Amino acid sequence: MCGIIGYCGSRNAAQLLLSGLKQLEYRGYDSAGIAVVHKSNLQLYKKAGKIEILRAIVPDILEGHWGIGHTRWASHGKVNDINAHPHTDCTGKIAICHNGIIENYTSLKKRLDSENHRFISQTDSEVIAHLTESFYEGNLVTAVKSTASLLEGTYGILAIHVDHPNQIVGVRNGSPMIIGLADKEMLIASDVSAVRAHTKQVIYLEDSEIVSMNSNAYEVSNMRNQPINKKIEVISWKLQEVEKGSYPHYMLKEIHEQTESIPRALSGRIDEQQATAVLGGLNMSDTELLSVKRITITAAGTSFYAARVIAYLLETLARIPTTTELSSELRYRNPVVEQGTLYIAVSQSGETIDTLMAVRELQRKGAPVLAISNVVGASIAREAHGGIYIHSGPEIAVASTKAFANQLAAMYLFTLKMARMRHMTWPEGKKFLKHLLNISNQIEEILNNADKIEQLARKYCKAKNFLFLGRGINFPVALEGALKLKEVAYIHAEGYSSAEIKHGPIALINPQTPSIFLVPDDYLYNKILSSMKEVKARNGSIIAISTEGDTQISHIADDIFQIPKTEQNFYPFLTVVPLQLFAYYCALELKCDVDRPRNLAKSVTVE
Ligand code: G6P
Repeated sequence: MCGIIGYCGSRNAAQLLLSGLKQLEYRGYDSAGIAVVHKSNLQLYKKAGKIEILRAIVPDILEGHWGIGHTRWASHGKVNDINAHPHTDCTGKIAICHNGIIENYTSLKKRLDSENHRFISQTDSEVIAHLTESFYEGNLVTAVKSTASLLEGTYGILAIHVDHPNQIVGVRNGSPMIIGLADKEMLIASDVSAVRAHTKQVIYLEDSEIVSMNSNAYEVSNMRNQPINKKIEVISWKLQEVEKGSYPHYMLKEIHEQTESIPRALSGRIDEQQATAVLGGLNMSDTELLSVKRITITAAGTSFYAARVIAYLLETLARIPTTTELSSELRYRNPVVEQGTLYIAVSQSGETIDTLMAVRELQRKGAPVLAISNVVGASIAREAHGGIYIHSGPEIAVASTKAFANQLAAMYLFTLKMARMRHMTWPEGKKFLKHLLNISNQIEEILNNADKIEQLARKYCKAKNFLFLGRGINFPVALEGALKLKEVAYIHAEGYSSAEIKHGPIALINPQTPSIFLVPDDYLYNKILSSMKEVKARNGSIIAISTEGDTQISHIADDIFQIPKTEQNFYPFLTVVPLQLFAYYCALELKCDVDRPRNLAKSVTVE
């Protein structure tokens, strides 16, 4: 989703902003722009399409040492050059970039229209430039503050004014913003990836905080003009982690990285002797954890499916009643928060607005919320009571893969801890750990056979519809498999419990609609086999993801991919991998933009 970067220092701002925008590409965008000031001259370049298109129109010798840049993901107004950011005021002296949605922009625009401000775009964001103009009386910070006080919705805003050389003003509400501190230069961006090449020292801005910076100094204050002392944090992600290396796509790289990322999630968190997990960041004592009577896990997208796997596991092993709810629904539902209920928010980015708002709503009601997140220092992680970082490393491809695996790994540890505090015995805990620690080797075995999935993708990718079917703990994996195929290959796919097909989806079965069955050797095996027979009886073609040594399945399935054997609760780690590969290879075969699928964003910071 929209990305923001600002720079002031001694280097060429245009080139720096363009490469910073390139680092923000992974968030998903449809247009980009920069505004660089040189000798009181606001130089504005913006273009619909990829950053390369923008780069082509920016002169190599464009001078200027401070400016702002933006990648836009359209929400209000079509994807075109005019609607791209930065936006300017009527005088052409102020430029702003905005990430988020201004919900009351229609009434603000009406007012500004009546004051003869001239609007040229269809965006909600342009009101910010004109409002800043209307409040400006020589002090940019005051003008931006007055503007922000009128805005309803979410925003991360950067503003510059040609009469204030070297100054950038930033303010946020609900949209992330970080300051990057370097030697005699300062950066400000919507996430650390844009500044990582220049500095490791960052400051996370909170909602309703406003920063004014130049190349040497910054000042953060709140809306009541009180200065705020901010902590400088050090980011740990290495640059090579965000490079593709020898892989053609980030998605493939990240699928393969699961073998290294899962051990990272487990590392230092296992107490082998006690057969339990040590999770220092929960900020809850064992007594508090023991008093948890119910758990609700909330999330969006792939994280929601990880949550559903864990709900299943928590109930089975820790015997704690656990429900899941989409964060977008939870936040507006006025949920009943009861004492004894623990809430868990799962988010790779830690910035998904629906999940962030759900966290805030729950906290307003006094509920304890733990965050399971990847991006260190992201809003959800900071605002939650405590949590577990999943340590998958930066995930760049829009379609989430290794983060799903690491969300599972982190929450499997949480489940182990909760279960060991209740009914799980020491030998059972030992066995649990044995299986968990073996998972990455087993994923490696699957990845060694990736070419088989590639062949299947070639064979089936022309199908217009797919069914993904699983049961029990693998049912959410079926949903995730369908989501992956939709996201990257643009093929319509439905995920279902295989038991449910007889209640509707079986009507879709024909030779052109393949069904992918997750049929590991668990206690529901025979039930799934029956559903497969029902599909076969109607001439449906079947791809089965089954367990090594399964001989029965070859009589029913058209194609089979076998995964290694594990204990039944651990299959989601394994069943999901062929589905991720299948989506990837279908997308490749269909020549889709695998890492940046159309219309999608990595970090969804608007509703
Ligand atoms: C977007 C991404 C998905 C992701 C979802 C939730 O839709 O494209 O890959 O699963 O947001 O994101 P989160 O960062 O909260 O896990």
